[in-house]
Amino acid sequence: MSARNLVLIGFMGTGKSSVGRLCARRLGYRFRDSDVEIERRIGCSIAQFFADRGEAAFRQVECTVISELARRTGQVIATGGGAVLREENVRALRATGFVVLLTATPEVIWQRVGHSQKRPLLAGTPDPLQRIRELLAVREPCYSRAADLQVDTCGLTREAVVERVLAAYREYRQ
Ligand code: S3P
Repeated sequence: MSARNLVLIGFMGTGKSSVGRLCARRLGYRFRDSDVEIERRIGCSIAQFFADRGEAAFRQVECTVISELARRTGQVIATGGGAVLREENVRALRATGFVVLLTATPEVIWQRVGHSQKRPLLAGTPDPLQRIRELLAVREPCYSRAADLQVDTCGLTREAVVERVLAAYREYRQ
């Protein structure tokens, strides 16, 4: 049986990490969250790194981490919401496994993460919902192009999302 990876992409607050962790448990795979790997490498929080070094420096570290994660097999990889902005990341993720895009409406995303202080792209903005809409408008084509499958998470329990993702992944693996 192939141990090609299962990759989760999508905007902040679409459930990549929680769904990814559950999928990994069910598959007996390791779970890797690119944001966690990045924080291990930079030695501080992503929010702090954004404040000190800026987004461009963050994207560089993210790119290195993704290329390293993509070299291993038997993993579920959850990526940060902006990972698809770099074509290099998309190529590496598509080459390493089956890419699932989790989606949600701007309103649902706002309810889930609109007040998060951990998300530097939303923290401190006067109108987080508007910011989410703007970022989504730019990113949606990148997400769609990168994905083998899309799962709309609105109105679904986390377990139901996991079932859909795993059913598609198992079919792909056969
Ligand atoms: C980002 C999403 C975050 C994190 C960073 C940038 C983005 O990850 O990588 O704050 O550009 O959308 P999550 O999608 O896990 O929140």
